[in-house]
Amino acid sequence: MAADGPITPPNVYDAEPIPEAARAEIDRLLASGDLFRYTAPEGAPVALLEAEFAELLGARYALAVSSCSAALFLTLKALDLPRGAKVLIPAFTFAAVPSAVVHADCEPVLVEVGANYRVDMADFAAKLPGAAAVLISHMRGHTSDMDAIMALADAAGLPVVEDAAHSLGTKWHGRNIGTIGKVGCFSFQSYKMINAGEGGILITDDPELAARAVIMSGAYEHNWKKHPGLQNSYMYWQNRLPLYNMRMQNLSAAVIRPQLPELARRVDQGRFNHDHVAAALNQSPWLDVPAPLAPEERAPDSIQFNLVGFETDAEARAFQAEAKLRGVSVQVFGLSEDNARAFWNWQFLGEAPDLPQTRAMLMRACDVRLPTRLTQPELDFIADALVSAAAAVKGHSTRN
Ligand SMILES: Cc1ncc(COP(=O)(O)O)c(C=O)c1O
Repeated sequence: MAADGPITPPNVYDAEPIPEAARAEIDRLLASGDLFRYTAPEGAPVALLEAEFAELLGARYALAVSSCSAALFLTLKALDLPRGAKVLIPAFTFAAVPSAVVHADCEPVLVEVGANYRVDMADFAAKLPGAAAVLISHMRGHTSDMDAIMALADAAGLPVVEDAAHSLGTKWHGRNIGTIGKVGCFSFQSYKMINAGEGGILITDDPELAARAVIMSGAYEHNWKKHPGLQNSYMYWQNRLPLYNMRMQNLSAAVIRPQLPELARRVDQGRFNHDHVAAALNQSPWLDVPAPLAPEERAPDSIQFNLVGFETDAEARAFQAEAKLRGVSVQVFGLSEDNARAFWNWQFLGEAPDLPQTRAMLMRACDVRLPTRLTQPELDFIADALVSAAAAVKGHSTRN
């Protein structure tokens, strides 16, 4: 353990404090009671957030909503997919993603994911025929091969939706994740780079898709006039589309907006923290942190690694117990009961498909949160605990 390491295990659940600037705006909103995004004639915090977020990411349109799941659902509805349309999704994602597909009256088709947490391109290519859309979760911020995915989807004429819930700040060939597919969806739930408790946003350059999503998010009657541009499209779609009322409220935007200028620092910090712990874990012969793909610049706020040579579930559980004894909680995705990221628990889809590669990965892939506010001694504490827990189960040899 590092000489100046903390005595107590680091708290990996708390987020950074919300910037002080949020307080004045929240007070103003509380004093006026102006919480609904469409009450003020102009300049509502949600509208300002949309403009700022679109500019930050380099997209033409942004629509702030109640969650990333709502953004995914509205996107699928705005794509106007026929009932029962097949939507490819990675088999390693959060249960809310297949749920959004089901909610949109579509059928998720699960694609195998490799030991590096990214979409298996052979299985993707095999399952593409017959699909109507592709929804790629950059799960835990790991970017799948977007060049190959876009090439195959473009050739098949299929729209690609990016679920960038965990990928705000990630780049692919220097380009912002969420701007590569037709639509990018982000989350402001507390365990993400920007924390509003709950919230989501979608971005797109497609005017018709944006207009349809705005109407369906709940811009009823003539509230769409408070969104810039697209006035003819809104007028056309008004009353022709259902209102799902998934709007964001002003208090959420007031919490999010002062965090946008913090994003670049958090991304740098998150990457530093991750790479620092990854370097230490990769010293152990029993732990492996998969490398990013070459075009990818990651923005992690957690670390995933695989247990190497842990032949049995009992050994993997022993590793969890040893890590816990050392003050660090490790989730092995496939080992905890009812884990929402294990596809066999998505019983609402019917019988679980046979996905041996993803299943094998989930049974040995570990997940530890690394919030950006952790200090270096805290990171060392976590890395030391994990390396020593693996050694306690498997022996003390080190990697050459
Ligand atoms: C990969 C992924 N996609 C989508 C979501 C849904 O985000 P939200 O909680 O904002 O609906 C999550 C939630 O953590 C997620 O992990």
